[in-house]
Amino acid sequence: MNKTLRPAVIAGNWKMNKTPAETTALINEIKPLVVDAKCDVIVCVPFVDLSAALDATCGSNIKVGAQNCHFEKSGAYTGEISAPMLADMGVGYVIIGHSERRTYFGETDVTVNKRTLAALESGLKVILCVGEYLEQREQGITSELVAMQTKIALQGVSAENLKNVIIAYEPVWAIGTGKTATADQANEVCEAIRATVAELYGKTAADSVSVQYGGSMNAANADELLSKPDVDGGLIGGASLKATDFATIVTAASK
Ligand code: PGA
Repeated sequence: MNKTLRPAVIAGNWKMNKTPAETTALINEIKPLVVDAKCDVIVCVPFVDLSAALDATCGSNIKVGAQNCHFEKSGAYTGEISAPMLADMGVGYVIIGHSERRTYFGETDVTVNKRTLAALESGLKVILCVGEYLEQREQGITSELVAMQTKIALQGVSAENLKNVIIAYEPVWAIGTGKTATADQANEVCEAIRATVAELYGKTAADSVSVQYGGSMNAANADELLSKPDVDGGLIGGASLKATDFATIVTAASK
């Protein structure tokens, strides 16, 4: 596999953290530290912080993403935000199917697919999350499970639109727990995801898709994880809230 065929992507997933004022401050801290990045740098912030993030990143190499979007364009969906609303603001990316959405907010493979299609239709780039629970890993079904999640999520996504999809492999047991997958474990599943994409779209398309690892990636372990042939970047939670840690990961991905 040739990593030069696809961009390295480091995305911060801020989750439910930071006010608009804190967003401006954190981005202003991150900006000078990542100015020389040779990878794509994205910050995925809460909905209410998107305006502040877009203002603070204006003219910089940092791109802005949301953490979810609804699959309908508009309507009676109290509390939801649609893909066209995000696109109209100038937001470029959206995380879809994060395990916290799946676990706490009833997200299913089918709604992940619907949201993915809606986001792509609005011109957003999608960071599509897949990953197994600990019991599933112990049962030995990780590869089958992420293949199935990937296939359902991508149902109806054209080969052309696949170029707007980044896949994030996030083992649920590694998220926010400090338990990182080993670099070999991460690579094995990222490789399995790429093989699934190859099955669906062919090898050339699969070689061009960026597959991130996420789950307690931090300044200390990023180098090793990102050196693996099929790990093309990271989706970073906790460590993305500290400018210097996030920048260290960006530097590791820029090598
Ligand atoms: P973490 O979160 O880096 O805090 O484990 C990753 C994620 O949930 O995207």
